[in-house]
Amino acid sequence: MKPLQEMSVAELEKAIRRHNDLYFKQAKPEISDEEFDLLVERLKRLKADSPVLEEVGSDLSEGSGKKVLHSTPMLSLDKCYTVEDLADWASKLKGDVVVSPKIDGLAIAIHYDETGRLFRSETRGDGTKGDDITQNVREVGDVPERLAKGPIEVRGEIYMRLSVFKKKYQDNFANPRNLAAGALKQKDPKKTAEYSLNFFAYELIGMDLKEEIEKIRHLKKLGFTTIDTEVVPNQPEKLQAAYEEYFKKRDSLDYELDGVVYKANQIEDQTRLGASSHHPRWAIAYKFQGDAAQSVLREVEWSVSRTGVITPIGIIDPTRLSGASVSRVSLHNYGLMKNMGVSIGAKVLVMRRGGVIPNLEEVLEKTKKIVEAPKKCPSCGSPTEVRDDFLFCTNGKGCRSTRLGELRHFVDVLEIEGFGDKMIEQLYDTGYVEDLPDFFRLKRDDLLSLERVGEILADKLIAQIQAHRTVPLPLFLRSLGIPELGKHSSEVLTKQLRRLEKIREASEEELSAIHTIGPVIAREVVNGLREKSGTVDKLLQFVTLDERSLAKEGKFSGKTFLFTGKMAAMERGAAEKQVEALGGEISGGVTKDLDYLVIGSEGYKNRDKGNKWIKAESLMQKGAAIKILSEEEFLQMLESSPD
Ligand code: IVH
Repeated sequence: MKPLQEMSVAELEKAIRRHNDLYFKQAKPEISDEEFDLLVERLKRLKADSPVLEEVGSDLSEGSGKKVLHSTPMLSLDKCYTVEDLADWASKLKGDVVVSPKIDGLAIAIHYDETGRLFRSETRGDGTKGDDITQNVREVGDVPERLAKGPIEVRGEIYMRLSVFKKKYQDNFANPRNLAAGALKQKDPKKTAEYSLNFFAYELIGMDLKEEIEKIRHLKKLGFTTIDTEVVPNQPEKLQAAYEEYFKKRDSLDYELDGVVYKANQIEDQTRLGASSHHPRWAIAYKFQGDAAQSVLREVEWSVSRTGVITPIGIIDPTRLSGASVSRVSLHNYGLMKNMGVSIGAKVLVMRRGGVIPNLEEVLEKTKKIVEAPKKCPSCGSPTEVRDDFLFCTNGKGCRSTRLGELRHFVDVLEIEGFGDKMIEQLYDTGYVEDLPDFFRLKRDDLLSLERVGEILADKLIAQIQAHRTVPLPLFLRSLGIPELGKHSSEVLTKQLRRLEKIREASEEELSAIHTIGPVIAREVVNGLREKSGTVDKLLQFVTLDERSLAKEGKFSGKTFLFTGKMAAMERGAAEKQVEALGGEISGGVTKDLDYLVIGSEGYKNRDKGNKWIKAESLMQKGAAIKILSEEEFLQMLESSPD
């Protein structure tokens, strides 16, 4: 894409259509939400009445699938970013405000007939009509098939719990929202069911109630899981405090939220304010800003990854972000960097969004010193090449950085300890280890000839290598460093095909037919395994594959947990979900078979012993192997060791 400023109206319209389609219909975005918003803002400025602006946000499919007209339009929410704008909006209301989290999922409507039976459900679509997804919605958690009475229409948000996403999909999918969108559009409802989606209800149509909060109470009574909703007095500081509270607890929730929604609690207020053609005037979303700062870009460094991609890293004047000093920022990839118009000396906006290294979000003031891609690989000097948005080293296996990255990845995945970056560099530069199988050929004397390696260390390293000669198949696959063959795909392939031989023989078509694999992963895996076939053959001379079915589910498999007392860092429900996500079970009470009793931080500090604690201690005196953990110890367990 060209820089925004140089794009014509026609080009903007074309780009917006394409990215809207990628995001909403195919759930495969190629640019970030922020970049998309920038395109839309630019088009609004140049041509406010462009028909393309009407299409933004539509997830209506183009196929022949059944379309359903909504009973009333499904609008979107107006957005604001400052407390002043929020207060401005609130000043129009007479009554209180209700506050709820803005869930990053997909809006749907569900219809129940006179007998209370679910008979239809559809997506938001273009706001007027949506795609019929009735059979798939029946497979979503928290959607009752039958209510005590009807007729009634319920609207809400379909989402994927973060614990589910982290457990199964994190390695291969960009975010839970797009995955949930894909899951909901499956032709076969059984496939939808496999994704364990959930539903939060927030709207009830077909009952005459006076307050928004009554709708929520009623939905709860009907058996829905409602969106967390609270009534707040209409005062700017109270509204701001509600926002801050969500912002703080955001990391402990099991769903992704991108802001807070404020609605008029009085239906009278809602009716009086009405709606524009896009959004109701009685509701507004206050979007999270992320932690942002301004700085100046001084330099761009290029780093070569194990797959041969050369990525740009920005060096900025040190600035503070979430309490830490930051001087290196991610410039994503070559294509994005170019589109943003990154230049030396430019004033830039940097932001942290969860990742370790913050992102350069936007170039605020450009200079003339545009950054060009290096013509030669910074590691090996070979020519570089641009493919799609990425810059590659064309040397492939010959590039030192790529090789070092691969070797490093191999020992990391197999958990062969003691091989840090410096050690791997020495081994590579001396020629002892040039490819993965060479680790197993290393001799004590080879190691002793390296700098700073004594007998004790040499023996330890040899022992480590020997201890890793039986490798579970999924780890073996992942250790090869083939793009797309990460944790999830390796496990799925092992589960489906069970033996390495079968996986190596499979064609692209066969692999892409496997659920969650798809054509892109299939192609990378087939090509990768073909390219690495020499390495794989040699590795097999040294390692024995453990091809039994998958190892245990998670690090808490077979363990039971029980929580008591108020926790400080997260809600109990979130803690329980994390345990389950790691394979553990939540116990119904204190029994001799309980493994861990976790005491919330306050109670633990005050040694304030409740019934569960007392009972656990008495069982322990009789020989039960219960462990009592403080909340802090539990959090450490969550973070420690791989799952
Ligand atoms: S109320 C006019 N409450 O955000 C629609 N929507 O941008 C009123 N959303 O289509 C909807 N969390 O999919 C409402 N707590 C919440 C929400 C929420 C997420 C979604 C919903 C809607 C979109 C609008």
